[in-house]
Amino acid sequence: MTAEYKVHGSVAVITLANPPVNGLGLATRQGIVDGLGRANVDAAVSSIVITGAGGAFSGGADIKEFGTDKSLQEPNLLSVIAAIENSAKPVVAAMHTVAMGGGLELALGCHYRIAAPGCSIALPEVKLGLIPGAGGTQRLPRVIGVEAALNLIVSGEPVKSEMIGAVPGQKLFDKMAASAEALAADALAFAQSVADVRPLPLVRNLPCKHPEGDAYFQFARNMVKGMAKNYPAPAKCVDAVEAATKRKFADGMLFEREVFINLMWTPESRALRHLFMAERAASKIPDVPSDTPKREIKSVAVIGAGTMGGGISMNFLNAGIPVKILETKQEALDRGIATIKKNYEAQVKKGKLKEDKYAQRMALLSTTLDYADLKDADLVIEAVFEELGVKESVFKQLDAVMKPGAILASNTSTLDVDKIAAFTKRPEDVVGMHFFSPANVMKLLEVVRGAKTSKDVLATVMAIGKKIKKTSVVSGVCDGFIGNRMIEQYSRQAGFLLDEGCTPQQVDKAVEKFGFAMGPFRMGDLAGNDIGWAIRKRRAVERADMKYSRTADKLCELGRFGQKTGAGWYDYQAGKRDAIPSELVNKMIEEHRKELGITPRKISDEEIVQRLVFALVNEGAHILEDGIASKSGDIDMVYLTGYGFPIYRGGPMHYASEVGLFNVVQAMDRFAKNPNDDAAFWKPAPLLAKLAAEGKAFA
Ligand code: NAI
Repeated sequence: MTAEYKVHGSVAVITLANPPVNGLGLATRQGIVDGLGRANVDAAVSSIVITGAGGAFSGGADIKEFGTDKSLQEPNLLSVIAAIENSAKPVVAAMHTVAMGGGLELALGCHYRIAAPGCSIALPEVKLGLIPGAGGTQRLPRVIGVEAALNLIVSGEPVKSEMIGAVPGQKLFDKMAASAEALAADALAFAQSVADVRPLPLVRNLPCKHPEGDAYFQFARNMVKGMAKNYPAPAKCVDAVEAATKRKFADGMLFEREVFINLMWTPESRALRHLFMAERAASKIPDVPSDTPKREIKSVAVIGAGTMGGGISMNFLNAGIPVKILETKQEALDRGIATIKKNYEAQVKKGKLKEDKYAQRMALLSTTLDYADLKDADLVIEAVFEELGVKESVFKQLDAVMKPGAILASNTSTLDVDKIAAFTKRPEDVVGMHFFSPANVMKLLEVVRGAKTSKDVLATVMAIGKKIKKTSVVSGVCDGFIGNRMIEQYSRQAGFLLDEGCTPQQVDKAVEKFGFAMGPFRMGDLAGNDIGWAIRKRRAVERADMKYSRTADKLCELGRFGQKTGAGWYDYQAGKRDAIPSELVNKMIEEHRKELGITPRKISDEEIVQRLVFALVNEGAHILEDGIASKSGDIDMVYLTGYGFPIYRGGPMHYASEVGLFNVVQAMDRFAKNPNDDAAFWKPAPLLAKLAAEGKAFA
């Protein structure tokens, strides 16, 4: 049973019991309706309390039912709320910990509400590209006022019950319980005290007005337009709350329903719901059960205090975990620590970090030049130069000193984690932890699973990733792992576009208009064009047949590595990050084009975007096929959290499925016929070809 029924004296208590957050799945909804029925026919019962077991009143819809028939099956939430409103005996919601989404809408349908302090109140549907769909937009303004309600609905952010409870005139809570512990007893007493009240109060009967409605809603629309230009839902929140002030309750409910259903079909909502599910799914590894024992991580060691080592250390300090950094020279340590301090001090200056917190974090940080000092660390992360020989020496020393059971991780971005593991006598304890720069800011962590990495090491690293607030995605061992392996194909295609007639600015603009945080050339300038140069030099040996545009090499031959050298695809002014189109670079591209004998042509933004995004998609399909990623959602998470792919498009694999894989393959066939592109490049991955032929999607 996911809703329990018990009678205490004259009060029937219906307790939602669907862990972890009492989601309103079909069985729970049915349980509520059954409980109401029983209470109403039991002469000994004179009032009813609905509450939640464990750590929530209710978190709303049951995500396990998302997209299944069960989510729509009767009794749906609207019907449950109707049953509550129609109960002849008073129904009291006893709210604690979490009352969100459908959970709050359920409470708003009750005759009375009593809340414990500390209860998070929210209507977060907007975060999934939706509006509340079970009366939230119509009932909430009636109890906390139009402006407060719209604020909650548009932001989706939670507010604590005691804050709302303290507002004079609010009608959301009829009573505040003295404490969370007192809620059950207070709710029983309250339910008894209202047992004889008739007629029973209903939120739907309360007035809903704004004295300057037209002006206020116009203002709200302007605000929302600026904040959420790529998302339709926030503006619809305004429309729905306005409807609550202008229409009769029943008409407002119909309006809300219509808007909700229309939003369900928007690509933006589909992308946001995909992201929501993919994020949760990413933490689950198919062959590593969730009850796999985890190792305890109480202290961390970091090898190398450079760009990455410093940022990686900050993640753990921020989470309250002590870090010891090792370097070969005192100067390198000093430089690294100074950078960490500079980063924290900038946060303090901006008011984002309190002085005492800064001091606490720095107190957790220590340094050493001696491997023996690291021996007790539970996890060590190596971030030294990207050379296998250097990694070998580091891992041999770690193997010699680290205690048994310590996890040995490498932040390598290109090297073979299995080779690194083989430098030790404990390859089962070795794993890749690939952070992205700046490591203290970027959300993505690629967890690289070596051939011998043990399951408990993986489970532990995924858990620690969560603790340091990263989105962790598991990748198998291959060149570039998931993210960089795909970006290489994207960069190759960007090069062909230059050869054919584009300027870097045109390509960047098209890609940024599509929604990427940054186009490929601005990104190259930020990351350093020399990184790709090194990879291409390696490729020239390994894969001499692979076609590349030579423009990027020519750029590097000019020493234009990007922002760090003050010049790359663009020019930069000292101390500024603004990308200024470079005449010199554009000339270089033109000359190279002449050498190739290509007559430039005007390439549409649509073609630019398709060629770049489908390059990602095709490599993503290979990655799935090779088992480097276990699901397409993982690939999307990598691109959404690490590469600035537009959130409202849901990641490359989701986007391709939205476009239709058949259409993707058709476009690829067209591109393959372009003599200035590369026919081999556009050969669809077998998985992509198969899914397209079967009319299927990736997910
Ligand atoms: P970096 O050059 O800024 O820092 C490397 C640090 O390691 C230097 O401070 C150096 O003194 C120290 N070091 C070198 N050999 C050492 C040894 N034997 N023992 C102890 N310390 C030693 O390099 P960065 O950018 O921090 O890269 C480090 C690792 O992270 C590389 O494997 C790189 O591929 C990887 N990585 C880099 C990213 C980036 O965007 N920079 C992104 C993701 C991974």
